[in-house]
Amino acid sequence: MSANIAEMERRRAAAQIGGGQKRIDAQHAKGRLTARERLDVLLDEGSFEEVDTHVEHNCTDFGMAGNVVPGDGVVTGSGTINGRLVFVFSQDFTVFGGSLSERHAQKICKVMDMAMRLGAPVIGLNDSGGARIQEGVASLGGYAEVFQRNVLASGVVPQISMIMGPCAGGAVYSPAMTDFIFMVKDSSYMFVTGPDVVKTVTNEVVTQEELGGASAHTVKSGVADLGFENDIEALLQLREFFDFLPENNRAGVPERPSSDPWDRQEPSLDTLIPPSANQPYDMHECIRKIVDEGTFFELQPTYAGNILIGFARVEGRTVGIVANQPMVLAGCLDINASKKAGRFVRFCDAFDIPIITLVDVPGFLPGVAQEHGGIIKNGAKLLFAYAEATVPKITVITRKAYGGAYDVMASKHLRGDLNYAWPTAEIAVMGAKGAVEIIFRSDMGDPEKIAERTREYEERFANPFVAASRGYIDEVIYPHSTRKRIALGLRKLRNKGLENPWKKHDNIPL
Ligand code: HXC
Repeated sequence: MSANIAEMERRRAAAQIGGGQKRIDAQHAKGRLTARERLDVLLDEGSFEEVDTHVEHNCTDFGMAGNVVPGDGVVTGSGTINGRLVFVFSQDFTVFGGSLSERHAQKICKVMDMAMRLGAPVIGLNDSGGARIQEGVASLGGYAEVFQRNVLASGVVPQISMIMGPCAGGAVYSPAMTDFIFMVKDSSYMFVTGPDVVKTVTNEVVTQEELGGASAHTVKSGVADLGFENDIEALLQLREFFDFLPENNRAGVPERPSSDPWDRQEPSLDTLIPPSANQPYDMHECIRKIVDEGTFFELQPTYAGNILIGFARVEGRTVGIVANQPMVLAGCLDINASKKAGRFVRFCDAFDIPIITLVDVPGFLPGVAQEHGGIIKNGAKLLFAYAEATVPKITVITRKAYGGAYDVMASKHLRGDLNYAWPTAEIAVMGAKGAVEIIFRSDMGDPEKIAERTREYEERFANPFVAASRGYIDEVIYPHSTRKRIALGLRKLRNKGLENPWKKHDNIPL
């Protein structure tokens, strides 16, 4: 018996060192942790239970028969984060560059299948040179098996990708189909084709970092949600983030104790809106003053800053926040903002997370680039997402709600449950100046008349009461009481039951 145990221990020890000390040292020299060290930081101490430690590849080409490493380049299993179950895979760059073989893929698929059966999230720590070149089509098949599961798991359990090294070729498409992508700055990159191919095909000279580093994807492409300074910060922040998420689409949002009074008043919100309608203010301030302990886990802060998205809590329960940001492009909706917020709204709806929408939007961003870039279809993504969402939706209009953007931002007409406005709200088809220039075009030669007409229009429409008189706004509220109103609303809406008509699936304008 003891000889058997010794053999098991010998094999386990062999798996622990992956590709060997030299490659582990090389990984450390790049400022990166190994696959196992990463899991140690991510998961609760001692909670990791590994599976498939002894899986080996089945490739015999290119001298691979004699080159076998137990585990085959990915560490898989389950553990807990602050006590809640999660399934994980962590690619081991020290073993064939973390490349994906048929067996490597099977290991990932096994934990994904388990996660779906048991209703627990999946976190992938990606650090891989892509398809295992020696295996050819077998590794492509392996990728497709993973892709298929990503799609089936979408909307069933949360899926998170943390990119911690290279992620090239088709390897980027599994993360792309997960719910959130995080990256490590100066240490991870994602691209479909690398700098060499780019140079050959388009003659563009670009570094890996410029092409697909964290800043490229968190600022320019919007592919990634956040970039972190290093492995440790990334994994600790991922633990924080995980606490906001439900375990699955039936579990409901997690709840944790909060000492922040539900009816806390914020007198400073009464003076948040500047006297001039053209003066910006920081919507972050409004969010922080409403949510528990001022904690807002913002996603994509450096991409499409004209809209803010992220998670927070009210009375200890997760909410999704979507808010126009007057400090960037005056808070207009454009293509990128619509895509960013549309996808977030759909995540919240899929996982039963109530959506709080704070509105200060002068309209859709005008311009040739926007029109030719497809603002019609892209703007419709956010409209569609809000309209199909059946989760509790509470909307607060702080200032402008103009034109189509008024409709889009979780208006009453899109089944908003509770639609509030501050007394500073202005709800109209368009701003006074633009409106007067159109409907009183014949008076344009007379500045005095135009000024009079503009004043008239402002008096009539630059307020929330016309909309409130029609019941489009449920109540005009004191800004200082916003948190209390939202908390009461969420309590009321806890058992909301609303279903869309049966269909195979909808056809959101992609
Ligand atoms: C097998 C690989 C590998 C791969 C790296 N290695 N990538 N082995 N298949 N795809 C091995 C190397 O041979 C090396 O082994 C070790 O991993 C470390 O690699 P290095 O090149 O020394 O590391 P580094 O300089 O850091 O460069 C990392 C890298 C580079 C940028 C990822 O290795 C690279 O470009 N690899 C190939 C990337 C690629 O083209 N992949 C296929 C993409 S196509 P030793 O023994 O020396 O330690 C694809 C199709 C999928 O993925 C389609 C799905 C739909």
